[in-house]
Amino acid sequence: MENILSIKNLSVSLSGKRGIVPILHNISLEVEQGHILGIVGESGSGKSMTAFAINQLLPGGRKSIVDGSISFCGEDLTEKTEKEMTKFRGKEIAMIFQEPMTCLNPVFTIGRQMKDVIMTHQKKSSKEAEKQAEEMLEKVHIRNPNRVLSCYPYELSGGMRQRVMIAIALSCSPKLLIADEPTTALDVTIQAQIIFLIKEACKATGTGVIFISHDLGVVSQLCDTIAVMYSGQIVEVGRAADVLAHPQHPYTKALLASVPSFTPREDGNDTLSAIPGMVPDPLEVITGCRFAPRCSYAMDICHKKVPPLQIFADGYSLHCHLQKEVEN
Ligand SMILES: Nc1ncnc2c1ncn2[C@@H]1O[C@H](COP(=O)(O)OP(=O)(O)OP(=O)(O)O)[C@@H](O)[C@H]1O
Ligand SMILES: [Mg+2]
Repeated sequence: MENILSIKNLSVSLSGKRGIVPILHNISLEVEQGHILGIVGESGSGKSMTAFAINQLLPGGRKSIVDGSISFCGEDLTEKTEKEMTKFRGKEIAMIFQEPMTCLNPVFTIGRQMKDVIMTHQKKSSKEAEKQAEEMLEKVHIRNPNRVLSCYPYELSGGMRQRVMIAIALSCSPKLLIADEPTTALDVTIQAQIIFLIKEACKATGTGVIFISHDLGVVSQLCDTIAVMYSGQIVEVGRAADVLAHPQHPYTKALLASVPSFTPREDGNDTLSAIPGMVPDPLEVITGCRFAPRCSYAMDICHKKVPPLQIFADGYSLHCHLQKEVEN
C-alpha cells in the first residue's frame, strides 16, 4: 500500500515569550492510503502540534523551528512556501476540529459556505457546486440536505455541524484527512455515528486519516494503526490490535489501565489506576526518557539516556530502554 504521508525525525520548537520551547522531539509517522492512524496521548502531549506541523500552521508561523521532513505524496511540506501550502490545505489535506463552530462562519448559510469551498478548489459553476454540496450532505447521512443548505450554523445541533464539517472536508476528495478530537464535544451516540462516517469515507475513497484523540476507547474502534504520544515524543507505534492487546511501553500500559473497558477486574474492584504525576512542561530539561519521572518501571539508565528506537516487523516500533516482551 502506498504511503500518503511519511514524517521522518520531525522536531519542532516554537519561539515565543518564553524563549524557544521544544514541542516535538524527533517523531516519525506514516499514513497509508485508505488507512486510519490514531494518535493518542494526554493533554499537552503534542498531538495538535503534530497536526499543525503537517499543515505548516504552527503558532508563530515561520518563526517556529522545524527539523526533519514531512513527505506528502513525495513532496516535502517543510520546504513549501506559504503560497504553495495554500494549494495543499483544504484540497489535498483537509482538517476537522473539536468545535466546528470555530470553523463555520456564523453569518453565512451552510450552503453558501460549502459552495465557496467547492468553487475555490474546483472549476465548477455555482449550480454544479450547489449540487455537489447537496450530494456531500447526503453522503454524511443528513436527511434533509436541501433544508440544511439554507440553515445558518447556529440553527444546527453540534452533531449536525460536525457532519457538515466532514462533508466540507471531504468535498474536495482530500488525500489526507486530519481529525483533531472531532467527537470530544459530542454525546456517545453521535460520537459513534461520526466515527462510522469517517471510517466509511476513508474506506470508500482511499483517503488516509489521522485521527487524534485522548480517548483510547474511541481510537480502538476506528484505527488501523495507533501512535502513542507523550510529552512531544512518540513512545510506541503499531497495528491497533497489537498495541491494544500487547502494549509494551509503560506509558501505553498505564494509559490502557486508566480506561475501564480495557481493564476488566475479576475481583470486582473497578477503581482505575490514574497515572501519578503530570506531563512535564516543555521547557523542563529532562535528560533521558521524558516519561521516566512517572514510570513505575524506570531504571537508572532511563534517567540518563534518551531511549533507543527499537524497530520490529509490521510497522511496530518502541521508544524505550526496556526490551520488547516476547509473545507466547
Ligand atoms: N502557541 C503556543 N506556544 C507555545 N507553546 C504552545 C502553544 N500551543 C501549545 N503549546 C504547548 O505545546 C505542547 C503540545 O500542545 P498540543 O496542543 O499539541 O497538545 P495536545 O496533545 O493536542 O493536547 P490536548 O489533548 O489538550 O489537545 C503543550 O506543552 C502546550 O503547552
Ligand atoms: Mg490538541
